[in-house]
Amino acid sequence: REEARAAGPLTGKKVVVTAGGTVERIDPVRYITNDSSGKMGFALAEAARELGAEVVLIAGSTQVQPPAGKGIELERVQSAQNMYDAVLRHFDSSDIVIKAAAVADYRPAVQADRKIKKSGDTLTLELVKNVDILEQLGRKKNGQLLIGFAAETNDLEHYALDKLRRKNCDLIVANDVTSEGAGFGTDTNIVHIYDANGLVQKLPLMSKQQTARRILELAAQRLPGAQG
Ligand code: CTP
Ligand code: CA
Repeated sequence: REEARAAGPLTGKKVVVTAGGTVERIDPVRYITNDSSGKMGFALAEAARELGAEVVLIAGSTQVQPPAGKGIELERVQSAQNMYDAVLRHFDSSDIVIKAAAVADYRPAVQADRKIKKSGDTLTLELVKNVDILEQLGRKKNGQLLIGFAAETNDLEHYALDKLRRKNCDLIVANDVTSEGAGFGTDTNIVHIYDANGLVQKLPLMSKQQTARRILELAAQRLPGAQG
């Protein structure tokens, strides 16, 4: 049965959300990843759909099930490079791009095509830097509203604004992962949202669903042509 979708402030808009952690292969049976649960990205995808958007959800490794159904197109990816390629395919046609994914900063310099055999007492794995997806999008953007995330343990405002400027984002959502109820794996978050002029909003401890809704409402207000 076709579900009718209510019109909202994002009706007719395309929103790309990246979620989860990237997986960087060492060999066919081993990899490097991180603790990203995917919850914040998935909540953002659902909130965007609720506000009327067509959502493309690009997800790496996650601990929870992604939302599915009408209005959300799911693409699974592994590495940062895969995620970048997937985002680029949708970038020109998107209105809002939200980078909630925990992208690995480095990947193994070599991906062995056979299982690495045990040998000496030590093994050194050489890592090389991954593409910074958000920074590249910041350079390429032509009208898209770009939203980044910053998870920090200290000097939240300083690092968040530095990332926003370096990556040419329109908004950055920063959270202090050391505070109770915020960060990886939790169902709640405490975020501060900044734009190029500084603090826009401090959100109190709330569910990731509520946080996502507030972020998308703010984004909708900042789209070209939106009312005050
Ligand atoms: N990001 C990205 N590509 C990367 C690394 C990060 O697109 N290779 C994005 C993340 O999805 C997030 C933002 O950049 O939206 C900030 O990520 P974060 O890890 O906090 O910042 P880094 O620039 O990687 O700096 P550091 O890890 O040293 O704090
Ligand atoms: Ca990083």
